[in-house]
Amino acid sequence: EFIKEVSGFSVLEQSVKDKLHVDHVVVVPGNSDELDWVKQEMGKAAVDFLRSILHANQTIAVTGGTSMAAVAEMMTPLERAENCMFVPARGGLGERVENQANTICAEMAKKANGEYRLLYVPDPLSEESYQSIIGEPSVKEILHLIKQADVVIHGIGDAWTMAQRRKASGKILQRISDGNAVSEAFGYYFNQTGDVIHKVRTVGLQLEDLDNSQCVVAVAGGKSKAQAIISYFKQGKSNVLVTDEGAAKELIRD
Ligand code: G3H
Repeated sequence: EFIKEVSGFSVLEQSVKDKLHVDHVVVVPGNSDELDWVKQEMGKAAVDFLRSILHANQTIAVTGGTSMAAVAEMMTPLERAENCMFVPARGGLGERVENQANTICAEMAKKANGEYRLLYVPDPLSEESYQSIIGEPSVKEILHLIKQADVVIHGIGDAWTMAQRRKASGKILQRISDGNAVSEAFGYYFNQTGDVIHKVRTVGLQLEDLDNSQCVVAVAGGKSKAQAIISYFKQGKSNVLVTDEGAAKELIRD
């Protein structure tokens, strides 16, 4: 029974890999839209994956969201990765504190026995404040760490859900709706073909910076996120996906 299950999922994983053109896919059983523990299983699978790739002295940039919070919840000491540094990928993006990258980054680092640095910036930022904040020496120092992260781990959201959860203004909601945005990751909103429709102005990782990381891991599941996952992967900026059966089965349809 167990072997059948494993081989069944490896076929599903291969189909998702082919569909999204990614190097590695992990699918956990269940649909996290319906059952909370499925998100924790994705968190655990993401921790296992990190454990398999991380080395000593590496920097890991993490984003916010409930999927990343599940990764932090399931984090355990990373034996082979001594002296690792966790940093938040970008600013808070208007999330509640428990879903902010800073909070998640600190929890992950503590549980992994790693170090962490935080980014204290209000966001979204006006152009003027943005320019002065990125000139601050303490911000510059952490930005340098973020942009050189060896590994990036992030969530992917449904565009409309994310814009509402972060209380985006009417003008921004209009832009997201007019542009037919489907997905959101790192504060960037993408349409069905992967074009950026809107970007929250904040300090930290920019989409282009992902080209410098060896490994960019997306953690996103739930049947309702299938179209968002497809849209985000059109950009081809992440090379690993940890997801669940609900999203995986939906995203390989047709
Ligand atoms: O950017 C994407 C969101 O952080 C995803 O949030 O994991 O709570 O769905 P979520």
